[in-house]
Amino acid sequence: MADSSSNGTAAPAAPAAAAAAASDPKSSFLSIYSRLKSDLLHDSAFDFTDDSLQWIDRMLDYNVPGGKLNRGISVVDSYKILKEGNQLSEDEFFLASALGWCIEWLQAYFLVLDDIMDNSHTRRGQPCWYRVPKVGLIAANDGILLRNHIPRILKQHFRQKPYYVDLLDLFNEVEFQTASGQMLDLITTHEGEKDLSKYKLPVYRRIVQYKTAYYSFYLPVACALLMNGENLDNFVDVKNILVEMGTYFQVQDDYLDCFGDPEVIGKIGTDIEDFKCSWLVVQALERANEDQIKTLTENYGKSDPTSVTKVKEVYKDLNLQAVFMEYESTSYAQLISSIEAQPSKAVQEVLKSFLHKIYKRQK
Ligand code: IPE
Ligand code: MN
Ligand code: MN
Repeated sequence: MADSSSNGTAAPAAPAAAAAAASDPKSSFLSIYSRLKSDLLHDSAFDFTDDSLQWIDRMLDYNVPGGKLNRGISVVDSYKILKEGNQLSEDEFFLASALGWCIEWLQAYFLVLDDIMDNSHTRRGQPCWYRVPKVGLIAANDGILLRNHIPRILKQHFRQKPYYVDLLDLFNEVEFQTASGQMLDLITTHEGEKDLSKYKLPVYRRIVQYKTAYYSFYLPVACALLMNGENLDNFVDVKNILVEMGTYFQVQDDYLDCFGDPEVIGKIGTDIEDFKCSWLVVQALERANEDQIKTLTENYGKSDPTSVTKVKEVYKDLNLQAVFMEYESTSYAQLISSIEAQPSKAVQEVLKSFLHKIYKRQK
């Protein structure tokens, strides 16, 4: 625990949080989680029984705070930059963190349901929530509850803010885009009727943009902008840059799914086995000769290791590693030049901090 602060201005936020923020951003961000959870467990709109209190408590701890928390923490970081380096007050730190946690809640909601739909086994190094004994499809309702917690957090802490309506609208828009992206992903990767001919770059980009980029990249910055009193209509270029970064982030994720070291990335890739519309298969199909197309058609989407190896051999023969590096440097250069065209230095700095985080990830 951080030292308890002894200043007399004990704000409603966890007292030590802002002081601790300077030393360890992740642990102070986590301390806000405990407070938000406690508020939700005292929600007067529902008459909790002991069992339901325990269920929510355990369900939240299992699904909300266990990730890297990059999305949530980047709301705080972005807001700090937009405030032009001024230290955040305790209250500002709490509010920016609460918005960050709303994004983590949104992600938890999507992941709980995504794992059911994808028939996944593990998430963040533990069994998927729906695979936990006595949970099963109760997880579907837990997903709905996680989703409902977001407007409850917003109502409790932002109701009086001039940007309250815009925040609600932002979360609604982004949720709709993400759910639509999930739909595209699911109907494109159709079990049973495996058809590689639809796996083209524009299809790929649409899926990724909607299911990942809006909530992971645009949403954190948009939250920080709203807190800073901005009108999001004036930041369409910023949105486009962030969506482009989100697209690159997913390309990198797809590349690492196949070529990354499981020890380093913390998960074992299954895109080939799952017949995913991955950036690699899209690139391979664009470059393959007839023989290679045949190999891909026969082996993509099969779970036996020989098939997976054959697909990876085609990727290597087509030198997709080099294609990826080429794409990486081109997209980096393009992003840098669109960022530098931004009129505001603070906005440039926010965008560059995202850029540097993702472009060093694979090393
Ligand atoms: C999950 O997408 C997307 C959302 C959470 C909206 P995927 O299904 O491609 O991601 P993983 O591999 O399960 O994390
Ligand atoms: Mn999934
Ligand atoms: Mn999915």
